[in-house]
Amino acid sequence: MTEPRNRVVQVMRFGGPEELEVVDAPLPTAGRGEVRVRVLASAVQYTDVLIRRHLYPQTSLRRPPFVLGYDVVGEIDQLGDGVHGFQVGDHVADMTVVGSNATYRTLRADRLTLVPAGLDAAEAATLILSWTTAYQLLHRAARVQRGQRVLVHGAAGAVGQALLALGKLAGFDLWGTARSEHAALIRQLGATPIDYRREDFTRVLPGGFDVVFDGIGEDGYRRSFAALKRGGLLCAYGYSAGVQAQRRMRTMLMWIARLYLWRWLPGSKRARFYSINVTRARHPAWFREDLERLFGLLATRAIRPRVAERISFDEVAEAHRRLEAGGLEGKLVLCPDLPSRHDRMPP
Ligand SMILES: NC(=O)c1ccc[n+]([C@@H]2O[C@H](COP(=O)([O-])OP(=O)(O)OC[C@H]3O[C@@H](n4cnc5c(N)ncnc54)[C@H](OP(=O)(O)O)[C@@H]3O)[C@@H](O)[C@H]2O)c1
Repeated sequence: MTEPRNRVVQVMRFGGPEELEVVDAPLPTAGRGEVRVRVLASAVQYTDVLIRRHLYPQTSLRRPPFVLGYDVVGEIDQLGDGVHGFQVGDHVADMTVVGSNATYRTLRADRLTLVPAGLDAAEAATLILSWTTAYQLLHRAARVQRGQRVLVHGAAGAVGQALLALGKLAGFDLWGTARSEHAALIRQLGATPIDYRREDFTRVLPGGFDVVFDGIGEDGYRRSFAALKRGGLLCAYGYSAGVQAQRRMRTMLMWIARLYLWRWLPGSKRARFYSINVTRARHPAWFREDLERLFGLLATRAIRPRVAERISFDEVAEAHRRLEAGGLEGKLVLCPDLPSRHDRMPP
């Protein structure tokens, strides 16, 4: 029998999407305490852009070539020694930060979350980074209370949509900044849209917001802090605007450090930076608990994550270009079983 082929998406050099290459790689073998999965889905997300551009602190010590892929839903096809509680054929998920844009990969069994039978792999993959981030921002970091007024920046984005959907389920009062073309989507998700190109979000709510979630970092988070009411909380979690403006990592780390100094300003406002990796390292049980809860909500269709497109290996570089251009309304998910776009086209 011929060995199955393993393909991976590699960053060959730090830089633009043209530095990505799809290459053949050896088939990995599950070591002790590991499983091997056949990858069913691995989302492509803005954070991959940061990693590719060498602007992501957690991967700053890596040197190319390395394989991209922040999250994975896969089917176990090999068990290493000492693995209990999983079987060949189980569908499992993990947040790996890198390495999952592949046909096969190995995973540590003690980090896996079981994916309930019947869930769509691409939809399940969207929950691992973006929706778990949103859930933890709302319920672990900010601990938002029913009736509080919440502003979400980048509301049409992957984390933004999840913040609105989960915030609506929890009964929060929501506002979301997005380009005007996405106003209907923001309303559908249960929030009041704010056109970030034309409206000043600091003036929308006299008195200010209880909580602001900011993954963009426009103006080094200053206006988000200004939009808070007395005693309000800014939860920053990303710096897409800094990436777009080609700032250096050092500058963005300074923005984050400065957040913690603002608590000394008058107004009793607070600001903090949330990181899913730091939270997982401190509270490993939360990650699995929260992801399982989200899988449960998906199984009952209480949440409906949007998959903009399922893509093949050959479309990953283009997916990075689309993410950087903006305007997407859902996630792009690599499904390694999908034939290349060229082969999917009708003759
Ligand atoms: N700390 C953590 O643990 C964590 C976890 C997940 C993600 N993140 C970070 O959070 C950020 C958002 O992630 P995501 O996956 O949701 O990204 P995304 O899907 O690209 O969504 C970002 C949204 O922000 C909007 N946007 C981009 N630049 C903007 C600007 N300058 N002003 C106003 N809106 C702007 C985009 O709108 P348009 O389409 O209109 O451009 C888009 O809807 C990224 O920087 C990501 O790396 C952090």
